[in-house]
Amino acid sequence: MIHVTEAAAPAAKTPTLPDAQTVTEVRHWTDRLFSFRCTRPASLRFRSGEFVMIGLMGDNGKPLLRAYSIASPSWDEELEFYSIKVQDGPLTSKLQHIKPGDQIILRPKPVGTLVHDALLPGRRIWFFATGTGIAPFASLLRDPQTYSDYEEVIITHTCREVGELQYGKELIESIRQDELLAELIGEGFADKLRYYPTTTREESAKMGRITDLMRKGEVFEDLGVAPLSPETDRAMVCGNLAFNLEIKDMLEEYGLEEGANSKPAHYVVEKAFLD
Ligand SMILES: Cc1cc2nc3c(=O)[nH]c(=O)nc-3n(C[C@H](O)[C@H](O)[C@H](O)COP(=O)(O)OP(=O)(O)OC[C@H]3O[C@@H](n4cnc5c(N)ncnc54)[C@H](O)[C@@H]3O)c2cc1C
Ligand SMILES: NC(=O)c1ccc[n+]([C@@H]2O[C@H](COP(=O)([O-])OP(=O)(O)OC[C@H]3O[C@@H](n4cnc5c(N)ncnc54)[C@H](OP(=O)(O)O)[C@@H]3O)[C@@H](O)[C@H]2O)c1
Repeated sequence: MIHVTEAAAPAAKTPTLPDAQTVTEVRHWTDRLFSFRCTRPASLRFRSGEFVMIGLMGDNGKPLLRAYSIASPSWDEELEFYSIKVQDGPLTSKLQHIKPGDQIILRPKPVGTLVHDALLPGRRIWFFATGTGIAPFASLLRDPQTYSDYEEVIITHTCREVGELQYGKELIESIRQDELLAELIGEGFADKLRYYPTTTREESAKMGRITDLMRKGEVFEDLGVAPLSPETDRAMVCGNLAFNLEIKDMLEEYGLEEGANSKPAHYVVEKAFLD
């Protein structure tokens, strides 16, 4: 028998991206929403709630980057992101097609206002989100500090359609069953977490914009809590610009003052995207 040995073809040169991280998991939630996980640079330290710049190499050979909230908590060995798919969006028209093994660019400089350090101590914390604005809260809700700092944690999430709530719904279910959090905070920690999802354009158990439901007092009745007060309540807000402005006015009317890293107060706000 004649054996023909062939020299292995030279390995294709792997393109090296600056600040490259490898995608490990992708989940599509709706035709407009997906989440993915990727490797975390060993040197990346961040505070739960912060955002980083991520992206892909553009056709012009330059990185195409956008701000993204880190949805995973600071203790997680990987990073998670929750993303919109804008069909003609420069980044997400491409990013929505990533698969495990692909590389993304991640600039390791986390920043942001939705951090515990920007708030004064309080009894109850409210996380108010619309759409992908739930992403920073997916991080904060998995951070043990949230439960050690507050007696009660309320997350409200308003979306147009029921399917857009699914990421948050599964997140809350997984947190309630999280053994590590139960061990760190105590078995009763899950009772501290209240979840208030609402839809505006498709029928669901609770319909309406959270702002309208607060004005009507329905949220407080449903949850059995008093309206917000600066003595007891702290809030973080992340949604579209109109929502952020509207709820900011409402929080001020309740007597809460806006905080910052440099001057902690009662509430903080961040845009979920630029309009
Ligand atoms: C501080 C900050 C944090 C952000 N965090 C996230 C995040 O965690 N997840 C995320 O998906 N996006 C997030 N964004 C938005 C993100 O930076 C990009 O805009 C988004 O990825 C779309 O990029 P693009 O290049 O495809 O389109 P772009 O040109 O950036 O946007 C095109 C249009 O799409 C709409 N749009 C953009 N982002 C969203 C969105 N998230 N939800 C609904 N409509 C949107 C807007 O109308 C925008 O004008 C964040 C933005 C900011 C400022
Ligand atoms: N979600 C979709 O199915 C869809 C489909 C195609 C295109 N788009 C486009 O994508 C962009 C973003 O859509 P999105 O649905 O992700 O985000 P969005 O428009 O920010 O809406 C998310 C949620 O926030 C609510 N909201 C908006 N303004 C508010 C305010 N001032 N106070 C309280 N709640 C408020 C909306 O209620 P309302 O419904 O009452 O506004 C909706 O329930 C828009 O430009 C949209 O035209 C969305």
